Order: sequence, then structure tokens, then C-alpha cells
Amino acid sequence: MRIKKRKTVSQLFDPKKMLLSEDSSFPMREAYKSLRTNVLFSLPGSDSKCIGIVSANRGEGKSTVAINLAISFAQANKKVIVVDCDMRLPTIASKIGINPKPGLSNYLAGNEDVQGNLIQHVDEYGIDVLASGDIPPDPTTLLSSEQMKGLLRLLKEYYDYIILDFPPVTVVTDAVILSDTVDGYLVVVRHNLSEFQKLKETFRQMNFSDAKVLGMVYNGKGSRSRYSKYYRKKGSNYYYYDEYYQKEPTESVK
Ligand SMILES: Nc1ncnc2c1ncn2[C@@H]1O[C@H](COP(=O)(O)OP(=O)(O)OP(=O)(O)O)[C@@H](O)[C@H]1O
Ligand SMILES: [Mg+2]
Repeated sequence: MRIKKRKTVSQLFDPKKMLLSEDSSFPMREAYKSLRTNVLFSLPGSDSKCIGIVSANRGEGKSTVAINLAISFAQANKKVIVVDCDMRLPTIASKIGINPKPGLSNYLAGNEDVQGNLIQHVDEYGIDVLASGDIPPDPTTLLSSEQMKGLLRLLKEYYDYIILDFPPVTVVTDAVILSDTVDGYLVVVRHNLSEFQKLKETFRQMNFSDAKVLGMVYNGKGSRSRYSKYYRKKGSNYYYYDEYYQKEPTESVK
């Protein structure tokens, strides 16, 4: 008789299981390849690109998509950095398993002594990460500073892709504040979670700020037959991207 080994709690809640690797399912690897290709075509040219990842609400998959898109670029031999711009509820460091500080807030606050160890290289994924740092009292002011624009200019000299992970657009204005510096935004929507009115409001705000939307990432649709499919409709790009893990997301807040 075969005894099925139960998973331990740490295996069940291992945040790394959502990250792209050689062990990821075929549909997941293909979906990210497809997303990468679409981003490449949406932002042609050989100069460095700055991509913002946004969504209307919390929990729709922005940070997961930001990291996995970065890993996918690294797999294509691009130099890439993920910057955790969600200084209110940062998750990038914990998802990857690196130090959450020092990071962006410390740099923007002019904390000179942290500069040497700000950027962490993650060998396992071939990407660099600038974590969020200590939680500041006013992240919006820090993000809108000249210092932030200067930092992005500096990173552009070194990286092919700079991926910015933002807080939700309908919660705070942090993401659109940088619309004149970000080359394009990807809007993540999540199956059984995203709400139409909130999404509408997100596009209204992005439009108002002249933010360039590259397309939408449809996250969490667990249908096997439609994975890694995308289509164009009326000038917009929809990146289908249903299967990370061959199961539906558990949350459903409507
Ligand atoms: N396709 C998916 N299938 C299953 N779980 C997912 C999927 N995408 C994301 N998750 C999980 O959902 C949770 C929220 O994802 P994530 O942190 O990437 O969202 P977020 O939009 O960055 O949230 P926040 O706005 O709070 O920063 C995480 O636990 C993540 O592992
Ligand atoms: Mg996040």
C-alpha cells in the first residue's frame, strides 16, 4: 500500500511556489514567455525600459506578476531589476526571500550609509531587486520626488528592464505619479476577484495622468484549454495567463 506523504505547513504556504522556475508548470512558463514577448513588441527599441505593474485593488497579483516577468526577462538574458514601490504594504522581499531593508525608502530619504547594499542580486532567479526599505510616513511624496526620477534615470543606464511594483491605483495615487517616467504600465486583473467599476476607475485615473497602458494581464483563470493565449481588440492588448498552478485562486471578494 502506498502512503501519500502529507505536505508540511511551510510547503503549503511557501511563497516561492508562485515564482517562475524550471519546475513551474508548462502552461505557466508559456504564459510568461508570451507576456514577455508581448511586452517586447509593445515597447520596441533597444534602449532601457521602465515598466509599471498596477491593478485596481489589493491582492490581484501585481507583485507576483512583477517578479515573474522579471524572471522571464532574465531567462532571455536581459539585465533586469524589480523595484518594490509599494512602500505601504511591501511584499517583494518576502516573496523572494531577501532582506526587506535597506531599500527604496532609505535611498529616497537620503540615507547615505545604506547605498552600498541597496541592490540585492538574487542568484536563484538571475534578477536584481531593490526592496522597499523601512516604511516611510509619506510614500507618495517620496515617489514624486526628483530623487526618484533621478534613481530611475540611473537604473536605466544599467538595466535593460526596470520593473516597478506599485500599490493599487484605486487606493493611492502612487503608481500614476510616475507616469511621465514609466514607459508603460501593465494592468493586472484577477479572475473572480477584480471588479468592473474599480477597473473602470483605474483606467480613468491612468488616462487622466496620461499613463501609457501596454495591456492587461488576466491572472488566475484556471482553464486548461485556453492558457497562454492573447488577442488584440480595438488597439488594446489582453494577455491571457490563466494557469499558474492548475487551480483556481482561493480568494473571491466581489
Ligand atoms: N494566479 C494565481 N493563482 C493562485 N494564487 C495567486 C495567483 N496570483 C497571485 N496569487 C497569490 O495571491 C496573493 C496576492 O498576490 P500578490 O501579492 O501578487 O498581489 P498584489 O496585487 O501584489 O497584492 P497587494 O496589492 O496586496 O500588493 C499572493 O498570496 C499570491 O501568491
Ligand atoms: Mg503587491
